[in-house]
Amino acid sequence: MATIVGGVATTHVPAIGKAIADKKFNDPYWKPFFKGFDYVHYWLARAKPDVAVVFYNDHGLNFFLDKLPTFAVGAANEYRSEDEGWGIPVSRTVPGDAALSWHVINALVVDEFDVTMCQEMLIDHAVTIPMTLMWPDQTWPVKIVPVEINTVQHPLPSLSRCLKLGRTIGRAIESYPQDLRVMVVGTGGLSHQLDGARAGFINKEFDQLCMDKIVAEPDALTRYSIHELVELSGAQGVEFLNWMAMRGAMTGQVSELHRNYHIPISNTAAATVVYDNQREGQRKAA
Ligand SMILES: [Fe+2]
Repeated sequence: MATIVGGVATTHVPAIGKAIADKKFNDPYWKPFFKGFDYVHYWLARAKPDVAVVFYNDHGLNFFLDKLPTFAVGAANEYRSEDEGWGIPVSRTVPGDAALSWHVINALVVDEFDVTMCQEMLIDHAVTIPMTLMWPDQTWPVKIVPVEINTVQHPLPSLSRCLKLGRTIGRAIESYPQDLRVMVVGTGGLSHQLDGARAGFINKEFDQLCMDKIVAEPDALTRYSIHELVELSGAQGVEFLNWMAMRGAMTGQVSELHRNYHIPISNTAAATVVYDNQREGQRKAA
C-alpha cells in the first residue's frame, strides 16, 4: 500500500525562480531563505518519495477568470511548464502519475468533491519553483499529482473545505494498492498582498500562529472565514489554503521537523516547513 511519508510547504513567489537562475544562493538578501532548504534536502534524501502530491494555485496560466474551477486535479503523465515571465527559465517537463491521479479523483467524487479533471494541464511557478527548491538540479526523482485550488477569484473555498479535501486525498493515497512513498507539498503564502492600499502587507504574528496551529490543531484554523483570512494574511496570503489541504492529507501523527521563516522575500513572508507523518503503528513500533 502507498504510504504518506510527510510533507513540505514553501513560498513560491516568482522572484525565487529568478534568484535560482542567477545563482544567488549566497547573496546576503537570499541566503537566509535558501539556507532553509538544507534541511529539506537532507529530509528528502532520507524520505525518498516516489510521488509528490502538490497542492497549489494557478496564476492565470492554465485557468483564467472566465472559467475557473474551485478544485482541479491533473490526470496526466507529464505536465509542461509555461510560466508567465519574471525572468524565470522555463523548467523541464514534470512527470505525472496518472494512475494515482485517477484513484484520487475517484475518491474525491465519492466524497462529494466534484473536481475538474485535467488530462492536460499547464503548470506555473507555483509548482516549478517548489520542485526546483527541493531538487535544485531539476532531476525530478518523483512523479507528481497536481491538485489546484482557486485562491484567485472569490468566492474561494473555506479553510475547512480545503482541510477536508486534503483528508479525502490522504485516505485515498493510503488505500492505493501500489507500494509508493508519497509526500505532500503545499505551496504559496505566507502573508502577502500585491496590490491595493495594503500592497506590501505582511503579518508575522498571524503567520506564526498559522504555522503553530497547523501541526497539531489544524481544525482550530477553520474558525477564520475567507474574508478574515484576507484581512489577516493579505489578498494573496490566502494561498495558505494550499497548506491546509496539504496538512489534511497527512492522516497520521504529524510533527514539525523544520521551520524557516524570513521576511521579506520580494514582498512576501517566506516560510518553509517540513512535517513528519507517522502512522500510529509506526510510532509505537519505533
Ligand atoms: Fe502565488
